[in-house]
Amino acid sequence: MNQTAQELWTAVDAYIDGLLFAGDDVMASALEASTKAGLPPISVTPSQGKLLCLLAQMSGARNILEIGTLGGYSTLWLARALPPDGRILTLEFSAKHAEVARANFARAGFAEKIEVREGAALDTLPQIAAEGRGPFDFIFLDANKDGYPDYLAWALRLARVGTVIVADNVVRDGEILQPKTKDAAVQGAQHFNAMLAAESCSDNPRLSSTILQTVGCKGYDGFALARVLRVG
Ligand code: SAH
Ligand code: DHB
Ligand code: MG
Repeated sequence: MNQTAQELWTAVDAYIDGLLFAGDDVMASALEASTKAGLPPISVTPSQGKLLCLLAQMSGARNILEIGTLGGYSTLWLARALPPDGRILTLEFSAKHAEVARANFARAGFAEKIEVREGAALDTLPQIAAEGRGPFDFIFLDANKDGYPDYLAWALRLARVGTVIVADNVVRDGEILQPKTKDAAVQGAQHFNAMLAAESCSDNPRLSSTILQTVGCKGYDGFALARVLRVG
């Protein structure tokens, strides 16, 4: 038995994909178009995408905010959770990524339900607040990790009681345990997790939270999951 943990996680993800997602050509096409366009292979996995879809559905989300679109793979999973009058606003820094995502949304029949807002999220989030686009029912954080603390602050501003906040990449191969890390992405996740704890463990918490470790074909990382208990 010389199988590494990573080989096993990849094989089990292949098993889950075969069981549950094998005939899902819409999602496979979106991923293929993103790969062909040269986008990095850092979208959520199929089972994680379906988790986002289920969480959005279970929370009855109609107005969804995503920070970090890439080719829109996670966005499409979230779009599948929407009721007929539901909408997604997804924020993306790269004009090229936004273009690939818009083509993926059109091909999947979701062009009318998803708006891609180009720019650095810290520039577009104030616009979105000023436009009164909130409160959002479900917020998925998956952009630059050094921005996560700011994105959590914005998520709280754009939330209502009951809003679900999910953040990808908060464990980072366990690097999160290294207090002296020089990696800005890990530092961002550490600061984010500390903020999550401060908001969840005070006398009058604004969040109810957990962090779930994730393993699979994309390695070892984690999802932070939170429910907003109060705003302001
Ligand atoms: N959610 C996607 C993956 C997102 S990858 C999926 O699972 O399918 C992270 C994305 O965040 C990249 O496309 C990157 O260009 C974008 N990004 C990086 N910095 C950003 C910023 N400051 N504002 C908005 N998006 C940013
Ligand atoms: C990276 C970003 C992600 O959102 C992810 O899930 C994995 C890796 C990255 O920027 O390296
Ligand atoms: Mg991610």
